Amino acid sequence: MPLQVSQLSERPSWKALKAHRSLFDEKNIKELFAEDPQRGEKMNLNAAGLFLDFSKNRITEKTLELLLKLAEESGLRERIDSMFRGDKINISENRSVLHVALRTPKNEKIIVDGEDVVPKVHEVLEKMASFADSVRSGEWKGYSGKRIKNIINIGIGGSDLGPVMAYEALRYYSERSMTFRFVSNVDSTDFVEATRDLDPSETLFIVSSKTFGTLETLNNAHSARDWLVRGFGDDQKAVAKHFVAVSTNAEKVAAFGIDTQNMFGFWDWVGGRYSMDSAIGLSTMLAIGPKHFNAMLAGFHEIDEHFRTAPFEKNLPVILGLLSIWYNDFFDAQTVAVLPYDQYLKRFPAYLQQLTMESNGKHVTLDGKKVDTQTGPIYWGEPGTNGQHSFYQLIHQGTRLIPCDFITFYKSLNPLGRHHDLLVSNVFAQAEALAFGKTKEQVQAEGTPDALVPHRVFEGNRPSNILLADLLTPETLGKLVALYEHNVFTQGAIWGIDSFDQWGVELGKILAQKIIPELDGPTTPILKHDSSTNHLISLYREKKISSHE
Ligand code: F6P
Repeated sequence: MPLQVSQLSERPSWKALKAHRSLFDEKNIKELFAEDPQRGEKMNLNAAGLFLDFSKNRITEKTLELLLKLAEESGLRERIDSMFRGDKINISENRSVLHVALRTPKNEKIIVDGEDVVPKVHEVLEKMASFADSVRSGEWKGYSGKRIKNIINIGIGGSDLGPVMAYEALRYYSERSMTFRFVSNVDSTDFVEATRDLDPSETLFIVSSKTFGTLETLNNAHSARDWLVRGFGDDQKAVAKHFVAVSTNAEKVAAFGIDTQNMFGFWDWVGGRYSMDSAIGLSTMLAIGPKHFNAMLAGFHEIDEHFRTAPFEKNLPVILGLLSIWYNDFFDAQTVAVLPYDQYLKRFPAYLQQLTMESNGKHVTLDGKKVDTQTGPIYWGEPGTNGQHSFYQLIHQGTRLIPCDFITFYKSLNPLGRHHDLLVSNVFAQAEALAFGKTKEQVQAEGTPDALVPHRVFEGNRPSNILLADLLTPETLGKLVALYEHNVFTQGAIWGIDSFDQWGVELGKILAQKIIPELDGPTTPILKHDSSTNHLISLYREKKISSHE
């Protein structure tokens, strides 16, 4: 039986890990490699077409053993089974957590509230496919009979980051005769820049919002409708051919004026940040076509099955999750850098930020008690090699510990001369430099003047993982995303938190609703905020009025 979730620091394995951690005050990664010359060939995993080298970590076999024990004591197995069974593990919202159902093959069943959800998933996928085919083939025409050439997804958070990331990641496979844009920010610049060179008669908007109640998305959708209708001489009937919606809320979609025939549904058991493979991926399917989209789903499913069935010591997401816990909770590492060495993955770190931080940025356990350990680390990153010429300095020689996940591919989608070898050589070199550094003696032996020696020493002992796959295909992207989804799940299960709610975003939204009329109301408001907020509101009103005079 797992212990009470609030007693994480009391678990025997946690205490044992705490004691074990002192070993690494004396021993660094270089010494660990010296002790076991085969370490680099042993500490890796190869599953579902992904290869993970995790040898350059501050761990021994004993560390792994204790971390795996922690996973067991924390009831990880039971939590995984509960998720796949459709139990309502999102307890603060009383919801199942079933993004895994979005990629479950047709012949399998997942029962939620007495109903098999798999046929519903496939019904929507088929509707998406026939719509995508008709738009891509030119059969679906705009109101004036022109072919649709431009797709604009309007959404924010999970209704934007997944679609943008996937579009960028799979651009190689996309229909190049079409233009794809993504509007998310309530800053009007986002919408204006996205539409400035487009012809409304060739443009289709996908309004993506799980709730269809998000301020940013609804405001952008209204501006989009005004822009479109203006382009058709104020003919409202044009909307039907140029707007579709993706949502769980048919009533609100209808109230906005989109025919629910042109709506693609999903369900409350799909969290926003876990929704890129639901109908929220409609823009992705329009870009890459149904066949590639299905290949992406197959990639997701392969990792789902691996996560569900592989023993923990061979389980990629479990090992990655445990390593994050190790640094976050036992070495006070505050962040994890995700460094994709593939230009197409340039938005992957941004996507992961919502996935990881909205999921595990929690301060209470499932039973509502304050956590007694640190929870979610900060995820960040940029594609390589660009990051090397900006922030890597701090990772190599700064005072903070930043575990890194390097991601790269054996092959390039765009082979060109020596580029790919140069790219991959940098991944290997960075990980090597981080782990092994450069000693004072090595620096001196190069004839470095004494005064400069300390500046040129690399302490090393900086941990990293290297994740390798064959080629960035839709299938591989599905695998990578599922890998991080379940990595996040593993971490959340150990901390005993609800990784599937996001109450932390609410307060700011409520306060903004209160401030909006104070900024744009005709009369000077009586302000009842703190003195700073009151002053800022008054200043803004003053400047706004004076700029209109
Ligand atoms: O405010 C946070 C959030 O609720 C995210 O969790 C979600 O992905 C995003 O807003 C967008 O929500 P929706 O899809 O309902 O518009």
